[in-house]
Amino acid sequence: EASANYYCITSDDVKQLLKPRAKFSHKGSYGHALLMCGGYGKMGAAVLAARACLRSGVGLLTMHVPTSGYSILQTAVPEAMTLTDKHKLFISELPEDTEKYTAIGMGPGMGKEKVTKTAIGQLLATSTHPMVIDADAINIIASSDRLKAQLPKNKVIFTPHPKEFERLVGKSKNHYDRLEDMREFCREYSCYIALKGANTAIGTPEGKVYFNTTGNAGMATGGTGDVLTGVISALVAQGYALEEACILGVFVHGLAGDLALQKVGAIGMVASDLVDHLPQAFMMLA
Ligand code: APR
Ligand code: MG
Repeated sequence: EASANYYCITSDDVKQLLKPRAKFSHKGSYGHALLMCGGYGKMGAAVLAARACLRSGVGLLTMHVPTSGYSILQTAVPEAMTLTDKHKLFISELPEDTEKYTAIGMGPGMGKEKVTKTAIGQLLATSTHPMVIDADAINIIASSDRLKAQLPKNKVIFTPHPKEFERLVGKSKNHYDRLEDMREFCREYSCYIALKGANTAIGTPEGKVYFNTTGNAGMATGGTGDVLTGVISALVAQGYALEEACILGVFVHGLAGDLALQKVGAIGMVASDLVDHLPQAFMMLA
């Protein structure tokens, strides 16, 4: 019976998941995230993901961006280290030594160039670390059965909005079937999916579905999804299990939106407001 596998995420669940920081810990204790994001005219997506990642407790963050994004990243996000691709406008290669990162996030603002597809193919073929795959990185994988077949088992979180989900998983008959199609896909590929929307639904390889209970319509504005990519990447980098990172990530992201709602309202809300309220959201769960 499918509905027995459906759960609502409560703040008590999430409070139990959140790990306290130990007195004698140091930045090496909290992981090193790599974010491969951004493209010409969409460097803001990389900036938002980077800021959100840093506001979610990661020890170190390295950004890999197109050459033309270098000054933008270094100026907008001084806490992040920045590596540049040889390509001026798009991501076309992997950084050296990808094994040293504890999580890799990718997709926001990256575009669907052929060179970018090649780089993602190399990453899927070689990498052993957990990955958070969003936006155009989802679209690229959705367009290629070869890339889908290369997805490493139990290592991948997809964070599609409904259109990206449809490209990745296929068209569903109705909203209930869409959840069942998600379960099926997560099982087949041993991956996690956070299907974003007013009540983001998380699918797991074991066939569970978790519904988020935070967030509001003020978040229906460009860049809020890029913030989620940064949050979940930070949690995975810190060593949270992929299921925990999805649950904690979508809940705290929505909670940041709910805190922003009290300050700026739904109409004036922008994605940066979510980043600004992440610290308070994490404090409420500690
Ligand atoms: N209620 C609660 N949360 C909402 C609501 C709502 N009504 N509407 C949106 N959200 C949340 C979603 O749950 C998700 O976390 O806001 C976020 C929106 O994410 P995306 O749809 O990915 O939007 P965003 O990334 O900002 O869009 C910019 O990125 O994905 C690409 O091609 C896509 O052009 C798009 C670009
Ligand atoms: Mg998006």
